[in-house]
Amino acid sequence: MPTRYQHLIGGEWCGEGEVANINPSDTNEVVGEAPAASKSEVASAIEAARAAGDSWAFSTPQQRFDVLDKAGTEILARVGELGEVLAREEGKPIAEAKGEVARAGQLFKFFAGETLRLTGDLTPSVRPGLTVEVTREPVGVVGIVTPWNFPIAIPAWKIAPALAWGNTVVFKPASNTPGCAFELVNVLVRAGLPSGVLNLVYGSGSLVGSVLTESGLVDAISFTGSTEIGRQLAVDAASRGIRVQTEMGGKNPMVVLDDADLDLAVEVCLNGAYFSTGQRCTASSRFIVTEGIHDRFVAALEERMRAMRVGSALDPATVVGPVVDQSQLDQDRRYLEVARAEGGEVVGGELVPQATPGYFLSPALVKGTTNDMTINREEVFGPVASVVKVRDYDEALAVANDTPFGLSSGICTTSLSRAAHFRRHSRSGMVMVNVATAGVDYHVPFGGNKASSYGPREQGSYAKEFYSVVKTSYVNAQG
Ligand code: UN1
Repeated sequence: MPTRYQHLIGGEWCGEGEVANINPSDTNEVVGEAPAASKSEVASAIEAARAAGDSWAFSTPQQRFDVLDKAGTEILARVGELGEVLAREEGKPIAEAKGEVARAGQLFKFFAGETLRLTGDLTPSVRPGLTVEVTREPVGVVGIVTPWNFPIAIPAWKIAPALAWGNTVVFKPASNTPGCAFELVNVLVRAGLPSGVLNLVYGSGSLVGSVLTESGLVDAISFTGSTEIGRQLAVDAASRGIRVQTEMGGKNPMVVLDDADLDLAVEVCLNGAYFSTGQRCTASSRFIVTEGIHDRFVAALEERMRAMRVGSALDPATVVGPVVDQSQLDQDRRYLEVARAEGGEVVGGELVPQATPGYFLSPALVKGTTNDMTINREEVFGPVASVVKVRDYDEALAVANDTPFGLSSGICTTSLSRAAHFRRHSRSGMVMVNVATAGVDYHVPFGGNKASSYGPREQGSYAKEFYSVVKTSYVNAQG
């Protein structure tokens, strides 16, 4: 029986399912049905968040700690079950899906702790008899719009800090992955979150996004998704004076130098490019390889790619699960066509029939590319990477930085000085040495430069730059 998801507005579950949640490993399976919110339902969710604002904002850190900690405990206790929900609706192989659920649990635990670590500053005034106190307060109502590719971890890393620092939330998950959102919100309700503090609305991104920006009752919007939508949202939010944070695309380079440990480099590149079916904004999509190791690297990589098992996300032997849906599959294949037409040689990237109908595509490598080709300029968001051969480290660094994006970058080398130089000169928000560009820790800042990110960093205690606002109070003790 498909699960019937509902909106949660002001503590009431409501809405009738209309939009089918399809299993990309078996498109005959309808996992659930989600409603699609009308403008007035979104407006009600915003009003509910506003009405709940004061009591949550002035709750004690202990109250917020208890809810977040309890939610984290439940998520961690249900990793297997929730991992299956995730694998079934998104297509992430089950082991990775469970890892993502565990990450969501850890995020709630981390931000539970953050409620207790909020501090301010007490400063002598430059004027006699006065003191100055700098404190942090909640921003207010936060709109949270999340993508399908991390359907529980990304909602967790936005919702947990929002709640920890006393904000109330209207949460709009991706239409492809309503199930994880439904489970997560249920966990938070069971953990004791008061009515209206977290509201869930399903529906189209453009409808919900426009109500969030136009409402006048929303104070901040945090978005992860495409560059095109993120940019427009940032413009709309800024024009109305709403605080905004957008995490968007990447075209992340992984540099492999002649002195790299070849086995490690191949492992790091396989993981970065093809795990999670390459559907990560942090995925490595450009391998920039110096000429002394290039041929050996490509041969070893191809051999390992061929051995990666493509199949149903629920089969524990699967390494590469299905692409999320038909339009994403079409996009991946279109980019491979363009790469061929521009002179690249494509290895892999074939449809892989399985016992059940689904969007199965084998990992693809485009060889013999130059950095100006479309395949190296635009984000594909699939199991597709390309190789650019370069003379030396200097050229590798220049090619790595020659991109409109700047999320994550990496280098495989045994040279400490090259690694140190790359860390300083790579124009990205996250730099990896001998480790994949994707797959990040949950307690440290996440975000990029250039077209990849806009606004303050997510995650870790840095997240407070977005989810809290500073107040400066002056006190004249003689008053
Ligand atoms: C990761 O690489 O572990 O949408 C996380 C994305 C990123 C999250 C990546 N915001 O792919």
